[in-house]
Amino acid sequence: MGTHLSRTVAEGRAFMQVIEGRPMDALSGERIDVVCPSDGRVFASIPASGAADVDRAMRAARAAFDGPWSRMPAFERGRCLTRLGLLVEKNAEELAALESRDTGKPIRQGKADVAAALRYYEFYGGAADKIHGDTIPFLEGYTALTLREPHGVVAGIIPWNYPLQILARVAGAALAMGNTLVVKPAEDASLTTIRIAELALEAGIPAGVFNVVTGYGGTAGAAVSAHPMVDYVTFTGSPATGTAIQQAAAINNRGVTMELGGKSPQIVFADADLDAALPVLVNAIIQNGGQTCSAGSRVLIEKPIYEKLAAALAERFAALTAGPHDADLDLGPLITLAQKQRVEAYVRAAEETGLPVLSRGRIDPGAPQSGFYYAPVLFGEVDPDSALAQEEVFGPVLSLFPFEDEAEAVRLANHTEYGLVAGVWTRDGARQHRVAKRVRAGQVYVNAYGAGGGVELPFGGFKKSGHGREKGFEALFDMSATKTIVFNHG
Ligand code: NAI
Ligand code: MG
Repeated sequence: MGTHLSRTVAEGRAFMQVIEGRPMDALSGERIDVVCPSDGRVFASIPASGAADVDRAMRAARAAFDGPWSRMPAFERGRCLTRLGLLVEKNAEELAALESRDTGKPIRQGKADVAAALRYYEFYGGAADKIHGDTIPFLEGYTALTLREPHGVVAGIIPWNYPLQILARVAGAALAMGNTLVVKPAEDASLTTIRIAELALEAGIPAGVFNVVTGYGGTAGAAVSAHPMVDYVTFTGSPATGTAIQQAAAINNRGVTMELGGKSPQIVFADADLDAALPVLVNAIIQNGGQTCSAGSRVLIEKPIYEKLAAALAERFAALTAGPHDADLDLGPLITLAQKQRVEAYVRAAEETGLPVLSRGRIDPGAPQSGFYYAPVLFGEVDPDSALAQEEVFGPVLSLFPFEDEAEAVRLANHTEYGLVAGVWTRDGARQHRVAKRVRAGQVYVNAYGAGGGVELPFGGFKKSGHGREKGFEALFDMSATKTIVFNHG
């Protein structure tokens, strides 16, 4: 039944953005076609907003912040988020189908994203009234204390790979702290963001608190990040767009959280439990077609087991099949034709250097020719300085690197500009600790790899992977500012 719904959901619907609690078209009346990556066919449309629409949304968010929202008791804001979580659960099937059709992800991934979104609203609903300030020992005759205050209007610029999840981690933390929101979802995947804003109203979140402006990055997105009414910007996406957003926000000297992807390594030592590691290594690059900020795109293998593990991975890769979202195979299509061409270019460039493909998966013969499918590719003995080893491919392409010893493993792991996530596979307890500490990554998993989920776990990058932390309790600090109050009572 889920399969059927994801084939027909939202067919022909002209979606509206949500501003001040009302469905609104773009002032220009311009629209963007919504394409299903599984067949390349247009099935719906969204407004193509510009600066004037953004300005409306900002004014609504500002008014809602100055209104009851920021003064509402924290537990009541928490209840609003908890109710939103329950509505996500109630509408789970529709949301999963919508996400899956809009992005091409297999329907089970759409369902997993709904489950994670529910957890975010639940987690931040419960956390809203559990964050508090300090009292600080100070001079005789004084009392000093701190409050955690919301920034005001938070702008959230959301990518297309996990819209439901990334929106939930942004909105959950921002709203829990009493901020209001203007969200700009990606032009390639806006539908579930619109639905969540509609559900937020149903959950009792006041009009104007949760605004959604749809449109292209260069127009709507640029207008959002440069708007003088924005108090804080949070962004997940490419480093280049991150730089543009930070420059825009710098005009008004506003704070930012940047989650800019990765080139995350998994380090496999010769003593590792390979049976446990193998499916996790494959899933970390195949999940969502490799279009995951925390994708495990580099596997570093200790030399004594290199041939054996490379052969096992090659066997798994050869058995992988890409197909339509509703067929629920190993992976779906990529998000757009442009993204498919990006991935193709990386693979072609690597092949042109003489690097052989170790193994390639296949595209389901029944998949529509007009879909954006790309069969998974495995490369062995990749040059650590090559583009394939250094840049985020954002597709189902895995690179293997042999290493001699622990020191070389750490050096290779850190040998990119990114630093988001890492995996360490070994039974040696002391080495687990040493390597986990020496790898520069915001999250390190030992004998595990946690792509997605883990709403409780602080997440964010070192180096080019960005700054600031999302998820977990820690996100509540990014989404608020400390105010210090000092009383002189003599
Ligand atoms: P992008 O970073 O340009 O797009 C992400 C979001 O930023 C979208 O909502 C887009 O509309 C918005 N945006 C684009 N230009 C903007 C601007 N000037 N001002 C404000 N907002 C703007 O990513 P894109 O072009 O879709 O994908 C290219 C590559 O970026 C991918 O191949 C991948 O490597 C990386 N990426 C990483 C993501 C992650 O989760 N870390 C997510 C999406 C893309
Ligand atoms: Mg789409």
